[in-house]
Amino acid sequence: MLCSYLFVLATAWQTVFADSDSCSSSATISNQTDADALGDCDTIDGSLTISSSATGSIILYNITEVKGSFTASGASAVTTLAAPALESINGGLTIENLDSLTNLTMNSLKTVSSDITVTGNSDLTKLEFDDLKEVKGQLTLTGSFSSISLPSLHKVDGQTTIRGKSMSCTVLNELKSENVYQGGYSCSGSGSSSLSTGAKAGIAVGVILGVLLIMVIVWLLYRRARRSRRQHLNEQTAAASAPPMVEKQLPVQPEYQPVPIFEPAKALPRKPLGSPPAQLDSRSIHEAAYPASPVREFYELDAGPIHSTHQRPLNPE
Ligand SMILES: *[C@@H]1O[C@H](CO)[C@@H](O)[C@H](O)[C@H]1NC(C)=O
Ligand SMILES: *[C@@H]1O[C@H](CO)[C@@H](O)[C@H](O)[C@H]1NC(C)=O
Ligand SMILES: *[C@@H]1O[C@H](CO)[C@@H](O)[C@H](O)[C@H]1NC(C)=O
Repeated sequence: MLCSYLFVLATAWQTVFADSDSCSSSATISNQTDADALGDCDTIDGSLTISSSATGSIILYNITEVKGSFTASGASAVTTLAAPALESINGGLTIENLDSLTNLTMNSLKTVSSDITVTGNSDLTKLEFDDLKEVKGQLTLTGSFSSISLPSLHKVDGQTTIRGKSMSCTVLNELKSENVYQGGYSCSGSGSSSLSTGAKAGIAVGVILGVLLIMVIVWLLYRRARRSRRQHLNEQTAAASAPPMVEKQLPVQPEYQPVPIFEPAKALPRKPLGSPPAQLDSRSIHEAAYPASPVREFYELDAGPIHSTHQRPLNPE
């Protein structure tokens, strides 16, 4: 019994010893084959880097500790990055600009001795660091997050900056009163502050477009009014200038109908004279005088055009 216990202990010790020996240097991982080659490693003594040419799913099964930093930057074809056994990183953790990343799983990670930066991974909407307790540098998580879960977070020494797209900050805000964020804290979940610049730009563009639209409409209306006025004018001048050129149509032109002769009342509106004078000749005539009324003068009008001031309508209006 004791023997077998000692044997197991020795085997475990040997394994740990062998692991730390076999993985003493930094490693760069381009594919799952590279990741599997580190399968025996418990500890990486150096840094761990995910190559920017890496693709698909990268899972680091057995690694529990990285003594350097853990960096994945610009590997835009990586869809899953998982280190399920990883518990501590002595350098920083940087996951940035992995445009296809949808799954970042490090649910055993407890301590990071420098900064954690997860930023610019446009497809990463969920982030869970289930066991993360302590960050000794800054904690920066920005992106298209709809949820960030840090249920074990106990202490962040540096500045904490969290920015999502459609997530709630409520739970994270509650940690403020527990003095988790030692170096300052900001969280904007609905993108209220990150969107505010975008929203401002949007509003500015909208206002400019609106003003332009109004100006265009006003201009169109003005142009239409001017055109119709000009058209009207053109019709008038055409009507005025056309008849002499088209002589055969002259009698048809309404302008040449002898309106003043046939419809004198229309052409020269006058007030009714009462009883018409009995006789008109070219001289002034007098109404037959009634005993009580004053004498009123009437003048004959000839049918000719009015040239000067000596002949006027009786009641110019
Ligand atoms: C994985 O990447 C390494 C270079 O890091 C390369 O030598 C190897 O052929 C790749 N394996 C596969 C299966 O692509
Ligand atoms: C993880 O380590 C164990 C031994 O500790 C080993 O049996 C296993 O194959 C390793 N996993 C991988 C994926 O290499
Ligand atoms: C993320 O990847 C890990 C490792 O392959 C897997 O166990 C987990 O189910 C994946 N999570 C999601 C949400 O796909």
